[in-house]
Amino acid sequence: MKWTGLNELREQFLSFFESKGHTRMPSASLVPKNDKSLLLINSGMAPLKKYFLGLETPPNHRVTTCQKCIRTPDIDSVGHDDRHGTYFEMLGNFSFGDYFKVEATAWAWEFLTQVLEIPADKLWISVYEEDDEAAQIWTEKVGIPPERIVRFGKEDNFWEHGSGPCGPCSEIYFDRGEGVGCGRPECKVGCDCDRFMEIWNLVFSQFDSDGNGHYERMPKPNIDTGMGLERLACVMQNVGNLFEVDTVQNIMQHICRIANVTYKKDPKADISLRVITDHIRSTTFMIGDGVLPSNEGRGYVLRRLLRRAARHGRLLGIEGTFLHEVARTVIQENEGAYPELRENEDYIVKVIKAEEERFQKTIDQGMEQLQQLIASFDGKGGVLSGEDAFRLYDTFGFPIDLTREILGEQNITIDEEEFTRLMNEQRVRAREARKDVSGWSTDSIDLTALDATEFTGYQTLTQEASVLAIVRDGNIADSVEEGQGATLILNKTSFYGESGGQVGDTGVIVNGDNVFTVEDTKKDHEGHFMHIGTVTKGSFNTADTVTAQVDAQRRRRIMSNHSVCHLLQLALRQVLGTHVHQAGSYYDEHRCRFDFSHFSAMTAEEIAKTQALVNKMILEGHPVVVEELPIAQAKDKGAMALFGEKYGDIVRVCTMGDSVEFCGGTHVHDTAEIGVFKIISESSVAAGVRRIEAATGMGVLELLDNAESVIGAVASEFKAAGQAEVVAKAQSVAKELKAQAREIESLQAQLANGKIKELFENTVTVKGIRYIHAVLKDTASDSLRTLGDQVKADAPDVVAVFAASNEGKASVLAVCGADAVKAGAHAGKLIKEITAQLGGKGGGRPDSAMGGVADLSKAEEVLSGVAGMLEGMLK
Ligand code: ALA
Repeated sequence: MKWTGLNELREQFLSFFESKGHTRMPSASLVPKNDKSLLLINSGMAPLKKYFLGLETPPNHRVTTCQKCIRTPDIDSVGHDDRHGTYFEMLGNFSFGDYFKVEATAWAWEFLTQVLEIPADKLWISVYEEDDEAAQIWTEKVGIPPERIVRFGKEDNFWEHGSGPCGPCSEIYFDRGEGVGCGRPECKVGCDCDRFMEIWNLVFSQFDSDGNGHYERMPKPNIDTGMGLERLACVMQNVGNLFEVDTVQNIMQHICRIANVTYKKDPKADISLRVITDHIRSTTFMIGDGVLPSNEGRGYVLRRLLRRAARHGRLLGIEGTFLHEVARTVIQENEGAYPELRENEDYIVKVIKAEEERFQKTIDQGMEQLQQLIASFDGKGGVLSGEDAFRLYDTFGFPIDLTREILGEQNITIDEEEFTRLMNEQRVRAREARKDVSGWSTDSIDLTALDATEFTGYQTLTQEASVLAIVRDGNIADSVEEGQGATLILNKTSFYGESGGQVGDTGVIVNGDNVFTVEDTKKDHEGHFMHIGTVTKGSFNTADTVTAQVDAQRRRRIMSNHSVCHLLQLALRQVLGTHVHQAGSYYDEHRCRFDFSHFSAMTAEEIAKTQALVNKMILEGHPVVVEELPIAQAKDKGAMALFGEKYGDIVRVCTMGDSVEFCGGTHVHDTAEIGVFKIISESSVAAGVRRIEAATGMGVLELLDNAESVIGAVASEFKAAGQAEVVAKAQSVAKELKAQAREIESLQAQLANGKIKELFENTVTVKGIRYIHAVLKDTASDSLRTLGDQVKADAPDVVAVFAASNEGKASVLAVCGADAVKAGAHAGKLIKEITAQLGGKGGGRPDSAMGGVADLSKAEEVLSGVAGMLEGMLK
């Protein structure tokens, strides 16, 4: 058994199973696809569930992978010992209805004892207590002495994680020797101590669990094995835990260099080093897989991990942002197996840095508040009110788990019950605020018995149909009369129901002279199309035969705006890079809005280039081809799918030139129909997400008309003859304004000088220091400061206090010249006292301080009294 690096071990494992007829598949993304039961991929089998369940055909019945995994149930424990971590890689070999226990056990043994040359007497086996077959195979076929096989119950040796494939399992343990662990003579596999380390779990996957205790036998038994790569590396590198494994330790060393600390010198620093090392691994991989920090779901997990790591950086005394630098080492250590990390390096680094910066701001504000709260406990520990904890969270955006952790260090807990109550109240408030007020909702009506609507609007804009149901005031009605609002559900319709970012169609539904004007169309989960509108003429009854006519002109404009976004996505990927993915979209008859992943603001040049590329593709006149294809075939065509979107077996694929996308929307027939494309704005929506708003065709003409009329209005305001003169006029007006501003400034200075002279007529001398004061009207706080600065500079032996009000705001300024400060005067202390007397708040430096007060009615009296304060203050 010889020392082997983590990266080599991964390769040894995968090629061993390749030699046993397995197909090596790349690690899936950490973001589960079509699996709502998981937030993040947490085992090698998770992305393969579809093969186990027979929903999709695997590339081979034998597959081997090394899967990146994240497990987050105990984030708060990470760091406090060296056992916990959130990120790890899982090696696995899988059989989808192919081989079973005999091969799985024999190959595991062969790999460990022959390839890695781990001495057989270091290995122990556990089997599920009822699995005699497994025990027999281990002893008879593999040759393990029976006394090295232990049996455990369901808790230990039955593998299941949420819903999905599961079954009894058999585990292989490595004995780290008597010197490690509890040292008790009876210590054996299953002991809580560190001596016996579980390295490989062979799951004899036979059931499909619904996650609620109901097990269905799968058509064929499968094999699912999982071996933690880092654990195996611990064995092969003879180290005690994952943090000492070569690649992981290299990451930690980078942190040590930045923080200028040494691992294993100071237990407190070690906690922080482990937290950062683990969290930067998981977060780098998560961002590489497209997760962005946010306040919910996996985005929240990412934010929490990054922020926890950032805070531990501070505990280590690191100032400023640093995690983004460490991420580069994570990338370097892993790029061999995960080349996507290097491809997305700049992006990953930027996302981390931006989150660190945002966190710094939050922390600075929240921490101040938290420190005050902690101070009120006088170091004694206790319980913080739920209200205070909630305020920190709600007003300052301070993460509650961080509050919990920081308080925990001071033996303070949170009144969790009150906190939860306040959180729930806030949720209800938010929900109320979001409530759909349009009244179209049919949520309260059971429409399951009603046939779904057949949508014909891809081919036609006019459709004969019959009225399946009429919904009025939240109830099913037989008929609807002129002037009444209602929702009509038809058996067939050409009206597009709002989805995929495309707005619903408008138009009319007619029956002879009877007209129902459709203001919007929506679609429910069961496929009923809701035509929302009003009867503008006559009446409608259930079962009426009608004609549904979409407003064709509007729909054409919507289609242009939708189709162009496909071209836009392609252009953005060409101009900015392939990290660009659609993150949201909206198309109506006026505009298209396209959100996409990209980190920095686009430059004017990039915008121009993108716009030109899109227009080029429009003018080239590419036919738009829409096909319905089996999903695998669509993927083969390289169709771009939406991140995390769930697709059925048959998907619509929309091709225009080089753009191939999954899409259910309606499109123009030829890109030339779009006419022209103009970007209106480019802005930020969230960290790492940009938004482009643009117009097409007639929309661009409207923009032009609008711009023209704005310029016309400006020209007439400037009295410019025509557009050509506008710029020259504007320049001359700006010049004039500048000259006037200078003049005003010099006049003000003259006035101020006069004022200062006046002020000194009222001087009181206290212990050799001159005190002056004044209550001024209509003076803004800025001018007050200028005045104060001038007095201070001109007269070093002066203490001056000025009160002023302007536009309903009253402020007080105190300044102390250099000699006055030397003599003991302190502007900050004076202001504190003065503002307190005037019903306000303030403070500041010894030479200058300011504060706000309620009003100045008592200002003269209080300011006169400052001479008395100075008596006590001056030496
Ligand atoms: N799916 C099994 C595990 O994750 C192998 O342990």
